[in-house]
Amino acid sequence: MNVLVTGSNRGLGLELVKQYAEDGWQVFATCRHPAEAGRLRELADTHGSVSIHRLDVTSTEDMRNIAWELAGAPLDLLFNNAGIYLEQHYALPQLGTIRYDDWLRTFAVNTQGAVRVTEALLENLRAAAQPLVAVMTSHMGSIGDIDMPGSLYYRSSKAALNATMQGLAAELEPAGIGVLLLHPGGVTTRMGPREGLTPVDSVRGLRQQVAAFDLAHTGRFVRFDGTEMPW
Ligand SMILES: NC(=O)c1ccc[n+]([C@@H]2O[C@H](COP(=O)([O-])OP(=O)(O)OC[C@H]3O[C@@H](n4cnc5c(N)ncnc54)[C@H](OP(=O)(O)O)[C@@H]3O)[C@@H](O)[C@H]2O)c1
Repeated sequence: MNVLVTGSNRGLGLELVKQYAEDGWQVFATCRHPAEAGRLRELADTHGSVSIHRLDVTSTEDMRNIAWELAGAPLDLLFNNAGIYLEQHYALPQLGTIRYDDWLRTFAVNTQGAVRVTEALLENLRAAAQPLVAVMTSHMGSIGDIDMPGSLYYRSSKAALNATMQGLAAELEPAGIGVLLLHPGGVTTRMGPREGLTPVDSVRGLRQQVAAFDLAHTGRFVRFDGTEMPW
């Protein structure tokens, strides 16, 4: 079995690479700057089944290159994990302080990025026996749960990601390609909360959800522990 992970140089992506490699999978570990991805390179040094590939999910050129590098290889699992949360870096955007360029950038990475990579690797997915597109979204994309101000860019990008992936689930089902939307919990990565789940525990749960996936339920949105998420 093989898996491609985006944003795999740190956080949840790095832990996905580690656990899948330890489980004997072939892992295409992608990130924006392979030369600077020290922890990922250490993993690749100790696990021969891990190869590192450059992939900025906003780059058309990188899409062409990754499709070329993987040409002819069936892809069992595409893990769209890369994401940004720019609101973390300054006060909550409120009316009067919205940075529209940051909003568009968030949309380009969090929403369009996952679609671009899925589109670029469609032939690889088609060539696998039971292919799955897993998408790291967030409870912050659940519109019904919004009861506080702020995080406009992140929330809207994840809500749009959820809506887009529901559409792709319907489009890809006839080809036997599944789509699973996942909320990893509040995890102690650079993006996540200071206190919370460890990446190890979150990824263990996420992998269980992936293993239990059934095409009859394509487009489901679940937490790492299998709890159904509200839209
Ligand atoms: N941690 C949480 O509590 C939590 C909760 C809900 C959802 N999530 C989601 O989980 C996913 C992983 O987040 P994390 O917690 O592991 O955060 P993280 O440690 O900040 O990692 C984010 C990853 O995304 C990569 N990335 C950013 N822009 C990219 C681009 N244009 N192309 C390719 N890669 C890019 C980063 O690479 P660079 O190092 O190059 O920037 C990094 O590898 C995200 O989609 C996030 O929204 C996390």
